Amino acid sequence: MGRYPQELIDQILDRVDIVDIISGYIGLKRAGRNFKSNCPFHNEKTPSFVVSPEKQIYHCFGCGAGGNAIGFVMKYENLTFPETITILANKAGVELPNLNKLSSQEESITARLYEVNKLATEFFQAGLKSGEGKTAQIYLKARDISFESVKRFKIGYALSGWDNFLKYCNKKKIPIEVLRKAGLIIRGEKGDYDRFRKRIIFPIFNERGNISAFGGRVMDESLPKYINSPETSIYVKSNVLYGLNFSKKGIRENGCAIIVEGYLDVIVPFQFGITNVVAASGTALTSRQARMLKKYTDTAVMVFDSDQAGEAASLRGLDILIENGMKVRIARLPEGEDPDSYIRKNGKEKFDILINGAKELFEYKIELLIEKFGANSVGDIAVEMLPTISKVGNAVVKADYIRRLAGYLRVPENSLHQELGKVKTDYSHKSLLKAETKKKKSIYIKSELHLLGLAVSDINVFRLIQQELGLDKFRDETVKKVLNIIGDFFEKGIIDITPSKILARIQDDEDANAVFLEALKTAEITEEPLKAASECIAYALKENKKTALSELTYQLKKAQAINDSSAIKDLVLKLNKLYKEKVM
Ligand code: UTP
Ligand code: MN
Repeated sequence: MGRYPQELIDQILDRVDIVDIISGYIGLKRAGRNFKSNCPFHNEKTPSFVVSPEKQIYHCFGCGAGGNAIGFVMKYENLTFPETITILANKAGVELPNLNKLSSQEESITARLYEVNKLATEFFQAGLKSGEGKTAQIYLKARDISFESVKRFKIGYALSGWDNFLKYCNKKKIPIEVLRKAGLIIRGEKGDYDRFRKRIIFPIFNERGNISAFGGRVMDESLPKYINSPETSIYVKSNVLYGLNFSKKGIRENGCAIIVEGYLDVIVPFQFGITNVVAASGTALTSRQARMLKKYTDTAVMVFDSDQAGEAASLRGLDILIENGMKVRIARLPEGEDPDSYIRKNGKEKFDILINGAKELFEYKIELLIEKFGANSVGDIAVEMLPTISKVGNAVVKADYIRRLAGYLRVPENSLHQELGKVKTDYSHKSLLKAETKKKKSIYIKSELHLLGLAVSDINVFRLIQQELGLDKFRDETVKKVLNIIGDFFEKGIIDITPSKILARIQDDEDANAVFLEALKTAEITEEPLKAASECIAYALKENKKTALSELTYQLKKAQAINDSSAIKDLVLKLNKLYKEKVM
């Protein structure tokens, strides 16, 4: 089946009023600019369900549910997306095209995108074998990546130069539109150019083994380390698990999936005969990914780098897996190692031991929280543990967790059971943000959220962010994703952006949904959006500079330790340049 074009969905959203729609189901009372009610999605006595006619969205501050008119009807009536669209189009007087007709058109585009990705893969593979590709071969060899791996994972090399691939495609008469849609060619002010240049290329496969996108790694320490394909009609990042096409057999046979972070953390263990690995590719696991895995096994071991980012990602991923009925254990690597480096240093047997000794979720999480908050922070630890426990489906396991948590915290079991009753589900995202406020990094995330919230309501704020900071500087992938959607609107000349239209573009992405609603909340009470935005931008620039400085300083120390004089020279230059750069 095809999909309705986004413009059509916008048209429907333009013509229906969310207040009308929701009043058709539940009673709404005016409260200032908004309307209020008891939430229809969870039990409550005081209303925390708010509908905003300006933003054309609803949001429950109690259970976190939120969305546009389409989302509400879908959830309330328990309908599919196309079913909901049919109802609302009818109300709005919008005529719907026949989906079956749409589909043949769309399918041909999909087929062309896969085709051009295949062509690109072959081009990059040839690049690796070319004269210039020697440096890339040397790099791969230095990282112990075998010839077999290069072949199996179709690793390639994108030549330096701005338009090698573009020229190649021109000769083959491939329409530029298709290349742009595939994300392989970027339209710049001075003309079109190749997205991937002078990088090692890792094709990203879908579950069936077709190539839907690419990741390109630099061969030195420059940033960004990876450039990835943008999301396209055949590449939705949250729907992909890197390596699954190769490992699904191994996962079935082992009765367990090993979840890692990076491309190389799949490739290298594979080389050592660990064939049940997949990577979430540097983002928190999504429900969709969990469900993909569940087709092959209900047991997973997550192995994450033992850095902060890795642990935040794993904590979030944990809850997602549990919600989807998976049994999860966590393996913690020694400081500074990732699965790739660990297995190369220690071999397969030690790696197996690490996996077999993976901690049960409960133990892992509680250890982490004690490290983070200190053993006496009973409240903080309980707040983090209870939502996780509430997601466990099995009542016996749940009771056991509560008993053990009571033991750890030295509080009566009964009180925890009471608290557990109050915990609402689908809260994972919010609680993480809350916990993170204790740390510096969380201020950063909050500041990014604030910028996102401000950008939606004011094109001037968005321009300021684009000019002064740049969308690619955002650290939170989800925030970045939503900002890019807003950017698309402006690019197309659509200035009348409502939050409800943005939500229509992230309907399938629970994380993005939650992040966006949170962002709107933070921007709600800001009096001078431009001033607030420039403060957040200044803060981000300062933090980025700090991070870059400490990264370079670390590299310099490493270079000094091995007396690598050319690297030292280079790093000192870079450091001096950075010191001189003025940041507000
Ligand atoms: P890592 O930084 O752990 O990289 O990011 P890596 O894959 O282990 O690479 P090496 O070992 O340094 O060469 C983990 C994953 O996060 C995504 C990639 O999918 C990467 O494999 N990532 C990371 C990006 O998309 N962009 C980046 O700039 C960095
Ligand atoms: Mn790595």
